[in-house]
Amino acid sequence: MALIFDRYKDRLATLPKEKGWITENLYMYQGFWHQSSRRISVETVMALQDTFKAHPTDIYLATVPKSGTTWLKALVFALVNRNRYKVDRFSTHPLLVSSPHNCLPFIETEIFRNTPTYVDSHSPRLFAIHIPYTSLPQSILDSGCRLVYLCRNPKDVMVPMFHFANKLRDKSRGLLTFEETFELFSKGIMPTGPYWDHVKGYHKTSLEHREKVLFLTYKDLKIDAVNNVKRLARYLGNPFTEEEEAEGAVEGIVKLCSFENLREVNKHGNLHEDIPNDAFFREGKVGDWTNHLTDEMSCILDEITKEKFYGISLGT
Ligand code: A3P
Repeated sequence: MALIFDRYKDRLATLPKEKGWITENLYMYQGFWHQSSRRISVETVMALQDTFKAHPTDIYLATVPKSGTTWLKALVFALVNRNRYKVDRFSTHPLLVSSPHNCLPFIETEIFRNTPTYVDSHSPRLFAIHIPYTSLPQSILDSGCRLVYLCRNPKDVMVPMFHFANKLRDKSRGLLTFEETFELFSKGIMPTGPYWDHVKGYHKTSLEHREKVLFLTYKDLKIDAVNNVKRLARYLGNPFTEEEEAEGAVEGIVKLCSFENLREVNKHGNLHEDIPNDAFFREGKVGDWTNHLTDEMSCILDEITKEKFYGISLGT
């Protein structure tokens, strides 16, 4: 890992930097803020741009952190592997014993591995990414592979990001206050932010090239998971058969990947040395921001969103 960080040390030194949420600093690279010296960082984006080879059959799940990445990973893993791992109550499904992050990795973390993993031995390869659309490795853009984007209301992204960052921050740096977090988020300064530009990059492509990006929202998934999972399956070229639907296969996947179920499975253990599995499960609701943001904060974010998303209706 250290080798990759060393390779990009000189470039890093030339980038604008700002106060970080988890790591000390965030660095501006190609219009977006990134952490450094972590698995998901500006150095790994650069390394992927330099070396990553996409396959046309790959599937990429793209999100701003805290938009429901863990949920989407679980759904797509269960859906694509439904013949390999049956979803029934007697099964030893990987999602019943392991974090969705272990079942479906971020490409950023895969480049650190020296030995082939699950990902290399299965097709389609499934990866998650937080990389903004305009910074994707050229090989992904050229490969004709499929991308799924999950978008969540900005206020419902800011709140979990605040809790997550405080869980992971080096304790010697003290905790982020909610006011500080709000200030940074509104200015677009968060890992892979600005939030609005990240969403717009994928949304634009989903309108111009429907076959390239399927754009989903957290709220829609919450309201109607069954129909959205069917939609996902069709987009991924793996639709449910009438027989599967009659057997309740879709409902089985939705239940397996429910917030309550995944939270229970991930109550213990650590994803990496510094990230407990349970850090990815908090409330799992739409609109929890109402319990945290003042009216004034809410109005400011609404104004920014209105301006940034002018002419776009996302229904988040
Ligand atoms: P909250 O903190 O609002 O509860 P990410 O996976 O991108 O890090 O996002 C984490 C957010 O998704 C957290 O939001 C978490 O609780 C929620 N989440 C995780 N698993 C979920 C699931 N199966 N269904 C719905 N929400 C889920």
